[in-house]
Amino acid sequence: MWGRFFIVLILALTPHAIVSVKLRDVEVIYQWKQLVYGFPTEADRLKAIADGNLVPENGTPIDVAPHQDSNKGSRVFTTIPRFTSGIPYTLALVSDSKESNGPVLQPYPDYSWHNSDGGDCDKITSVFRVAITECNQMFVLDTGVISMVQHCPPQLLVFDLNNDSLLHRYRFEPGTYIAVASLFIVPIVVVDDPPPKGRCRKLRVYIGDVSFHGLVIYDSELNTAWRAENKFMYPDPDHGTHLIAGEKFDLMDGIFGLATDRQQLFFHPLASVSEYSVPLSVINNRTNWLADVNSMTKSFRLVGNRTSQCAAQAMDSYNNLYCVIHNPIKLVRWNMNKPYSVKNEIEIPVDPELLQFVSGMKVFKTDGGKEELWMMSNRFQRIASGTIDFNEVNFRIVRRPLDDIQHGQLKQDLSQRLIFN
Ligand SMILES: *[C@@H]1O[C@H](CO)[C@@H](O)[C@H](O)[C@H]1NC(C)=O
Ligand SMILES: *[C@@H]1O[C@H](CO)[C@@H](O)[C@H](O)[C@H]1NC(C)=O
Ligand SMILES: *[C@@H]1O[C@H](CO)[C@@H](O)[C@H](O)[C@H]1NC(C)=O
Repeated sequence: MWGRFFIVLILALTPHAIVSVKLRDVEVIYQWKQLVYGFPTEADRLKAIADGNLVPENGTPIDVAPHQDSNKGSRVFTTIPRFTSGIPYTLALVSDSKESNGPVLQPYPDYSWHNSDGGDCDKITSVFRVAITECNQMFVLDTGVISMVQHCPPQLLVFDLNNDSLLHRYRFEPGTYIAVASLFIVPIVVVDDPPPKGRCRKLRVYIGDVSFHGLVIYDSELNTAWRAENKFMYPDPDHGTHLIAGEKFDLMDGIFGLATDRQQLFFHPLASVSEYSVPLSVINNRTNWLADVNSMTKSFRLVGNRTSQCAAQAMDSYNNLYCVIHNPIKLVRWNMNKPYSVKNEIEIPVDPELLQFVSGMKVFKTDGGKEELWMMSNRFQRIASGTIDFNEVNFRIVRRPLDDIQHGQLKQDLSQRLIFN
């Protein structure tokens, strides 16, 4: 019985395992010297200028989220947080129309949704990152903050990507954030009842509070959220200075990069070289956190240390965790089935010019079922030091197919797969 299963499995896997896949390149999909904002009408543009809402040099794109569906085709979303004024909209689609500084952005879902002065909390105020699920839904995490002022409570907005309409809004309760001190910068979503069988009703969103050092868990069935805190979410002053492409800056950001294999949440602060984990079952249980946000300390674990800090991270369906370390710049992969040590931190060759401060990263599954790594690279080191030069390319959206890495992985892990299947 075992023997027969083994042979069948080998036959089933062989065609994939022996296909020789050429080493893939990192490909630039879009690039900008400076952001280019499109408007629905010329009058909207002139009004944005008159109101001080259009200062192109103030905008830094942070996230990237590709999407593909039969109705809307292929689309690429980006976010422009309102660190300061002069940002006409904070969530955008990259259009195919090009100007000399780069492709023209268009407001998403439309211009009327954007709350440029913080005056209307039903609109979108400021977004760092989004998450797109297998349910064709985009989760938009709005900080409610413009230039350090908490204009609105943070909120989670869910858009249906088939028709770009709002499906759900959740405003965070005062117990889950501290106005101005908190900054909700990154959501990841785990859907428990995905299509085709499921109805996308049971999901949880894990949110990093980068400056008040905590994790917020939103549960769609309860339609509520709670906080979980742990010392591992804090920045480490020993790693608060970042050196990227020869330029130094200090940034004491806490919990920043999130990823999951659907069993555990992996996370790291920005000012840190360590990766940590906590079982989802522990943070998903609200009862654990009601009396004390700092409980369950024994469930948090140091996974391993990197050679240098990294910002955004993402995990593929083969449990490979990707991150771009800062000094020297390297795209690295670690497979969860091995201890996280320098030996198992595998470098993926790439021109370091293309990847600098990688502030957004997603694993995207194409219609054909292939996974690709998408990254938003910006020169945050230059923005921080005020040396950005708008005659050069400063922001790039890049893509790298993962089939070569995953096929290599499949061969290595064959024995383990046989045992566990
Ligand atoms: C958009 O699609 C969803 C289902 O996918 C539906 O519930 C909703 O009513 C639609 N909204 C509009 C404005 O068509
Ligand atoms: C949640 O945690 C509490 C203790 O904090 C425990 O009593 C309860 O059984 C847990 N619930 C589930 C569903 O695991
Ligand atoms: C990882 O780094 C932390 C803090 O820098 C240190 O305390 C710990 O001993 C290191 N652990 C390993 C396994 O290298």
